[in-house]
Amino acid sequence: MSARSSRVLHRSLRETPPKAIGGEGIWLIAEDGRRVLDASGGAAVSCLGHQHPRIIDAMAKQASKLVYSHTSFFSSEPAEALADHLVGDEPGGLAYAYFVSGGSEAIEASIKLARQYFVERGELQRQRFIARRQSYHGNTLGALAAGGNAWRREPYSPLLSSAFSHVTPAFAYHEKRDNESEGDFTARLAAELEAEFQRLGPDTVAAFIAEPVVGATAGCVAAPEAYFRAVREICDRHGALLILDEVMCGMGRTGTTHAWEQEGIAPDIQAIAKGLAGGYQPIGAMLASRTIIDTIRQGSGAFQHGHTYLAHPLACAAALEVQRVIGEEKLLDRIKELGRYLERRLTERFGNHRHVGDIRGRGLFQAIELVADRATRAPFDPALKLNQKIKAAAFEGGLACYPAGGTVDGRSGDHVLLAPPYIATKDDIDMIVDRLGTAVDQALRSINH
Ligand SMILES: Cc1ncc(COP(=O)(O)O)c(C=O)c1O
Repeated sequence: MSARSSRVLHRSLRETPPKAIGGEGIWLIAEDGRRVLDASGGAAVSCLGHQHPRIIDAMAKQASKLVYSHTSFFSSEPAEALADHLVGDEPGGLAYAYFVSGGSEAIEASIKLARQYFVERGELQRQRFIARRQSYHGNTLGALAAGGNAWRREPYSPLLSSAFSHVTPAFAYHEKRDNESEGDFTARLAAELEAEFQRLGPDTVAAFIAEPVVGATAGCVAAPEAYFRAVREICDRHGALLILDEVMCGMGRTGTTHAWEQEGIAPDIQAIAKGLAGGYQPIGAMLASRTIIDTIRQGSGAFQHGHTYLAHPLACAAALEVQRVIGEEKLLDRIKELGRYLERRLTERFGNHRHVGDIRGRGLFQAIELVADRATRAPFDPALKLNQKIKAAAFEGGLACYPAGGTVDGRSGDHVLLAPPYIATKDDIDMIVDRLGTAVDQALRSINH
């Protein structure tokens, strides 16, 4: 289809993508009948693959009973059941769930809840948020201001709040100095965060916000072992909140329901989305601690926020069934096992590749980073658009993956993110690695490497 004949405003205004007309487990089917292996679930969304019969059935049942009611009048059975499922046993002290329509909305709610909490406590001076460079928290203006990706921020920078400042990410591959141990690196990052609190005035900071495993903008970057414990300690010492953005890395993706479970800490507020309903419905959620909600309950008595589609019953029903399937089919164990297999297969295929500098990630959330020179870790010239060439070559070869650029500093660097569904098999993983290998080599050849 030519760009002119589509009225949909697509991501590219020059090209109209092919229509997807069907899905079947790990496969997407295009209008010309082509089957594409969905190795990243779009952007780490489709955690149970496509057209899972149990989810379709649960949605049909809910649709036949009640699709929508406004939260200013009613709660709904699926919203109550989903909240019980997620926070009924108060994981890490998170006791309440606020259901929105996606990741950016979950982040906006998290930022506003943190601010309102301090307003209600009479700490009006707490209006600063510290985040990290090379992070992504969403594209609405509050979430974009929190995010630290230079390229995404640039055109909108005059509109972005100066309440947000950014520190160095826990990205060892690029930020750790050669003469530094992992412990030294963590200590340096902690000292930088402490210095940022001091620069701003420790009692002006409302929260520190971070992705436990950085997704889209850096490619599956987990922090060094003690990093989040150090961050938690600094926040606690200064009375600031810790907001963790698990929109991409959460809901089982890394092998535990919450990625923070692997860090030995818990947040005060958490954003989740993609894997919550696996793309069956658009839904995200903010999870919040009992302390925060009790403070507001005893103060003004209401979170001063809201959207039309809060706690949408059909979206909640889809999410609830996705979470039940993950639990009942013990998919977390499978993610851990398949994750190890994916890492092994990626290492076999790319471990000695002269243009793959790093293979990293957790569970079914893994990435490779492309470099011009492995010794210096120098990236390719961004003008070569290597990541886009890999994406195109992979798609041509029947593989949908999630390559992106700007890995190093928001402008240069290329990585490919993989986030296969939790229902994938070892054969699927073999096929993903095989097709990715072909695509990477083909793309490199096209830029004469
Ligand atoms: C870590 C993280 N936070 C927030 C968002 C924004 O979510 P959404 O695109 O659903 O608004 C994303 C999306 O990729 C994300 O990866």
